[in-house]
Amino acid sequence: MRKPINGFSKLSKLDKIKWITATYFKDADAATQAIKQYWNTDKKLQQLHDEFIENTITNYYLPFGVAPNFLINGKLYTIPMAIEESSVVAAASNAAKFWLDRGGFKTEVISTTKIGQVHFMYHGDYEKLQKFFTSVKPKLIEDTQQITRSMEKRGGGILDIELKNKTKDLKDYYQLHATFETLDAMGANFINSCLEQFAKTFKSEALHCVHFSEAESHIQIVMSILSNYVPNCLVRAEVSCPVEDLNEDTSMSSEDFAQKFVQAIKIAEIEPYRAVTHNKGIMNGIDAVVLATGNDFRAVEAGVHAYAARHGKYSSLSHAEIKNGVFKFWMEIPLALGTVGGLTNLHPLVKVALEMLGQPTAKELMQIVAAAGLAQNFAALRSLTTTGIQEGHMKMHLMNILNQLNATVKEKEKMVAYFKNNTVTHSSVEAALSNLRLLANN
Ligand code: MEV
Repeated sequence: MRKPINGFSKLSKLDKIKWITATYFKDADAATQAIKQYWNTDKKLQQLHDEFIENTITNYYLPFGVAPNFLINGKLYTIPMAIEESSVVAAASNAAKFWLDRGGFKTEVISTTKIGQVHFMYHGDYEKLQKFFTSVKPKLIEDTQQITRSMEKRGGGILDIELKNKTKDLKDYYQLHATFETLDAMGANFINSCLEQFAKTFKSEALHCVHFSEAESHIQIVMSILSNYVPNCLVRAEVSCPVEDLNEDTSMSSEDFAQKFVQAIKIAEIEPYRAVTHNKGIMNGIDAVVLATGNDFRAVEAGVHAYAARHGKYSSLSHAEIKNGVFKFWMEIPLALGTVGGLTNLHPLVKVALEMLGQPTAKELMQIVAAAGLAQNFAALRSLTTTGIQEGHMKMHLMNILNQLNATVKEKEKMVAYFKNNTVTHSSVEAALSNLRLLANN
């Protein structure tokens, strides 16, 4: 067994690489070269990335693409997307173009409230705790003034704090359940700082509460943390058009397409196995924009999937109907996003993404991201219910394989033509390319 290493974080970047390549790689020089080739020659830029996290040894690139022609509430956007999966940006662009000619996306922010909780244990009489909470609540808020002052000036801050009795689910367990408005900031730091101050004040005031017994006065704070479940930070995106305007594909009538599309949604509404993949398609669009704009895609993912299961069964995030000859397709999702603070002030490409979007407020960004998610879902369902998903995927897959095989531009052209009528697999592409090269050499 290998020995653990002590003091790894204190090694220089080069020494870290030296240790890793010597420990894990057959060819240490090749591994070092693979790692170092992604270092940026601009030392300042590299240092910026080095300092985002700990133990950075190199950069991990993702393509940064754009999907133009997104008409959202009458305004045209080009949406930046950071994603590795082929077809996603092309699908978003196609869906954007499709809806551009049909009135575009209509979006609205329904609510913007975020949640944070102080989880604590209290051994005693609930009524006494309630009275204590009511008396101490103004002080809880007062003691956070240092933290909340500038947020309040801009119109945000703490909206409320409630005491929640959770003892039915867990013995002696209670919460301070707080709601926040964090405006253009995602607000994680703001919320967590407020919560930690609530916890401090709450605990110390309890020690001096004359109505508490000795046991009651010793409140045990377990933890203070925001919730990534944000069902009251909700945005809606919608597209609609007369059914007859729906389909460009002559192989199927618009009516049949609309019916099939709605069926596909109904299946995702009742069948969790399908719903997860259906929603994954939505997240293809959402995560890509969330990442490009420097937001926390893990937080968004966790919150969105919890929302998809809010009725006790995992279900589709999007819905569709045909009513009076009109096809309507929509979705409501929770999105806690920021356009100030965090990575938005630091990462040069995030700055580019936000400027491309016209320096949106958090509310605007919620709407843009929701439109990208709905577009992605539309594109996936359109493919799935008509040609099947593989046609588009395979085109990109073919390119990836050809790139792996170092195909030239000319070879790529010939291979694309050849694989219009042949099935793409790694071995079939390999065989066809070596055939082509053989013919070229003879
Ligand atoms: C692939 O990344 C996403 C899809 O599977 C989504 C879907 O099935 O709806 C195509």
